[in-house]
Amino acid sequence: MRQLIAGNWKMNGLTEQAAGIAGPLRHGAEGLGCDLLVCPPATLIARVADILAGSGIAVGGQDCHAKASGAHTGDISAAMLRDAGASHVILGHSERRADHGESDAVVQAKTLAAIAAGLTPIVCVGETEADRVAGRQNAVVGAQLAGSLPDGFAGVVAYEPVWAIGTGRTPTEADVADMHAFIRGVLAARLGPAGSGLRILYGGSVKPSNAAALMGLPDVGGALVGGASLNAEDFLGIARAARA
Ligand code: PGA
Repeated sequence: MRQLIAGNWKMNGLTEQAAGIAGPLRHGAEGLGCDLLVCPPATLIARVADILAGSGIAVGGQDCHAKASGAHTGDISAAMLRDAGASHVILGHSERRADHGESDAVVQAKTLAAIAAGLTPIVCVGETEADRVAGRQNAVVGAQLAGSLPDGFAGVVAYEPVWAIGTGRTPTEADVADMHAFIRGVLAARLGPAGSGLRILYGGSVKPSNAAALMGLPDVGGALVGGASLNAEDFLGIARAARA
């Protein structure tokens, strides 16, 4: 399967910057051997989807509510994201788990809502630095997967060690390979043969200079890119390093 390079703009970008990033992506993406996805803030999804229409580059949200509609002031449903032009949604990002207290159960409910609305969920998991130092990264990630993925899950998993996000630090290649093999095993045990075909993205300080090494590792199905996705040239540099 082609690798997926997904950009998470987080809470960054106004109309002018959206055009400044998405416009060059549209031209630079031609002939790439991987799939591209851009996840701008919700206010820019429709705008970015317009700019990227017909380019083959997908657009996604960064969160959705677990309910389809109703009295949830300020929240956005999966159907609204889809209506705005999104095909994917990032769920359970560590920043949402930390800032909004999202539990695995909440992430699972949101994942079901995304699937029901026809979106592809990208479910994020990852250990803290304390977990890693204590050697309990597999236990932590295993528990997150068990709690966050619904039965019959069909979507994308993103492994993002919390301590590698926005820090410039990454795990060793061996540690990334070990964790992706572990996640692959969990998915296969839970989902059977379908689990072997799901993409597992690596996220956390991916940049053009480390992308080829990370994307070359077994069971790495692509990247979830934060900071470097705010610069079209850097994002395309990562995409060019992806395996076909
Ligand atoms: P980063 O963020 O690439 O800036 O480390 C990754 C993410 O949080 O998805």
